[in-house]
Amino acid sequence: MRSLGAFIVLEGGDGAGKTTHAALLAGRMRRRGRTVLVAREPGGTPLGRALRGWLKGGRPTTPLAELLLFSAARAEIVHRVILPALRTGATVVCDRFAASTVAYQGYGRGLDLDLIHTLNLQASQGLRPDLTVLLDVPAEAGLARKEPGSRDRFESEVVEFHRRVRSGYLSLASSARGDWAVLDGTGSKADVASLVWKTVQPFLDTSRKG
Ligand code: TYD
Repeated sequence: MRSLGAFIVLEGGDGAGKTTHAALLAGRMRRRGRTVLVAREPGGTPLGRALRGWLKGGRPTTPLAELLLFSAARAEIVHRVILPALRTGATVVCDRFAASTVAYQGYGRGLDLDLIHTLNLQASQGLRPDLTVLLDVPAEAGLARKEPGSRDRFESEVVEFHRRVRSGYLSLASSARGDWAVLDGTGSKADVASLVWKTVQPFLDTSRKG
């Protein structure tokens, strides 16, 4: 069986720039001849898109229901989009993955981390990123990049929530086994893009994955 392609995840708080840098990174890799799929959580499947609309909308949702909905969206995108692409040998760049659930529902909402771990494992079918790039931005700086009038349910949370999310990410990064990179996401778009590329390029050069 052909081995799986490389699975690279961009993580970070709201306004960290993941979506921009996932697209820039994918473009750079494609210009070097790689087949790259950009995926986004939640989203990427009909159910994922419906859940994304619900989760980002203003309607109140209990923390446990929120966790289960993110897990459902992940189960779908892993099964229908990410694993099939990796099996063809493509590189997948994912805008958020299981670490988002630890940071937001675990540290942000205060849900049980063991439960989150179990759900993440099931929903992702045990798939782990080969490399997670954390775009680290202080909570206030990330939120300042979002127009107050157009903030979604998460972006409208108090700054304390976003501080807990950031500390969750940093704690995950500090206990990771060399497969996380923490980058300063406060610089200009060009500066951060260059930091991301300097992190990912050596990984691609040494990894035998697609
Ligand atoms: P999105 O617009 O993708 O945020 P961003 O552009 O900043 O990446 O919205 C996704 C929101 O969902 C974001 O606020 C984080 C939240 N989220 C969770 O709370 N848990 C999760 O498991 C995931 C994947 C996202």
